[in-house]
Amino acid sequence: MNRVRMYINGNFVESGGKAWLPVYDPSTEEVIAEVPDSIAADVDLAVKAARAAFDQGAWPQTTPQDRGRLLFKLADVIRRQSAQLAELESRNTGKPIVEAEFDVTDTATCFEYYGGIATKIMGYVNPVPDNALSLSLREPVGVAGQIIPWNYPLLMAAWKLAPALAAGCTCVLKPAEQTPLTILELAGSFQEIGFPPGVINIVTGFGDTAGAPIVAHPDVDKVAFTGSAAVGKLILRSAADSIKRVALELGGKSPNIFFADSDFEAAVDGALFGVFINQGEVCSAGSRILVERSIYSKFVDAMVEKTRTIKLGPPLSRDTKMGPLVSKEQYERVRSYQEIGKGEARLVAGGGRLQSADRGYYVEPTIFADVNNNHRIAREEVFGPVAAVIPFEGETEAIRIANDTPYGLAAAVWSRDIFRALRVVKAVRAGIVWVNHMQPTYVEAPWGGYKQSGFGRELGPWGIEEYLETKQVHINLSEQPIGWY
Ligand code: NAI
Ligand code: MG
Repeated sequence: MNRVRMYINGNFVESGGKAWLPVYDPSTEEVIAEVPDSIAADVDLAVKAARAAFDQGAWPQTTPQDRGRLLFKLADVIRRQSAQLAELESRNTGKPIVEAEFDVTDTATCFEYYGGIATKIMGYVNPVPDNALSLSLREPVGVAGQIIPWNYPLLMAAWKLAPALAAGCTCVLKPAEQTPLTILELAGSFQEIGFPPGVINIVTGFGDTAGAPIVAHPDVDKVAFTGSAAVGKLILRSAADSIKRVALELGGKSPNIFFADSDFEAAVDGALFGVFINQGEVCSAGSRILVERSIYSKFVDAMVEKTRTIKLGPPLSRDTKMGPLVSKEQYERVRSYQEIGKGEARLVAGGGRLQSADRGYYVEPTIFADVNNNHRIAREEVFGPVAAVIPFEGETEAIRIANDTPYGLAAAVWSRDIFRALRVVKAVRAGIVWVNHMQPTYVEAPWGGYKQSGFGRELGPWGIEEYLETKQVHINLSEQPIGWY
């Protein structure tokens, strides 16, 4: 068995509990590796290492320039190993290789971006009304606990590690139990690049046994989490005990809104891309497709027609547009929503597993029409290729339905009327709004949600704020006694 150890304090190690957990190829359902099934004692070692690296040793002595160069080197390693990393990512997640290649490129770009930002973290001179110099210093928050999901494993690791390291934090990152392989592969280069031991620790394992102890650990200063709303709530509660700083990105039920005046071909394409990319396993998936009544039936027909051409197949095949779902658990979850949808609305495409596949967690791209926004398939995050199409009459109703959700991660609006498009942009309560597109994501621009999609922002200069404290320094310039007593 291909046993891949985790990375703590500069060493590849097993769990103190000696247990291993299986890692699968979701296209064959076969075990391709085992990683340590960590327990709280392993987390404690990782946190101690991160704490020591933050408080002593070489890391606190590094300059922003040093940290920037380390991140550039990491990006170089990723670019050199891109083919291998993309293949591993594709095998482990089931995502099409072409998409995995984009992810790896974006990962390198993310490290480069924050390598550049490391030298642009600036303080402030506060204009106080006294003979004094008042400064605001920006300092790293400390040890960052980072818990990430399985849909973009390497990229999500980069979104969390890159800003934290640029800020001068040390990290304990837990990849999802389903997809730990690419970040562990990359960990093989950390020491050689020059990261001191303990600065980056990768702890593998399940959420309740390896994730929860990170959140509860008193020596962790900040927790950044991307995943389900259910776990987000647990994390907030647990973090209360030690008043930990928390950032949460919890997915959503994002509306993709189509007005009758939008470019029809581009719109239909955008509706499918918005919800089916990465098998629909996307936190910002446009899973509620709102279509203006006057084009509604034509739009649904065109979506169905085009969905027939989506090529499902083995992730490593270059013409595959949709691979299997990541795991048996996720497959069963998505299958159950396909059944729930059949009881609620009108099934017009897909609706089951891919019949032609004799193995692998393949489900058909599925479209439900005539969905009511109160249906479960319009309210609950499916995290798979299941689209809920909802008709609307006019701008006011579109906005009302779009906002009628506990979530607020993303939204998109399609129209050639700039006044209307911008009115909708302002009216929608979501952290990301696209106009005449859906899903493009850039490290330069903020990412995060409103409402129950969480709080905190990743990427751009906002991303680094999450890992910085602000220290007020007051320097008295007067040589007179205070003169109070
Ligand atoms: P999850 O939220 O359980 O897992 C995400 C990460 O959190 C994993 O690393 C997991 O090990 C960890 N985790 C789980 N329980 C934890 C706990 N008690 N304390 C600390 N860490 C914990 O998500 P799961 O079960 O993989 O997927 C279920 C649903 O969650 C999906 O169907 C989807 O709707 C949603 N989800 C949303 C994501 C997003 O990007 N916003 C990503 C993954 C899932
Ligand atoms: Mg879970």
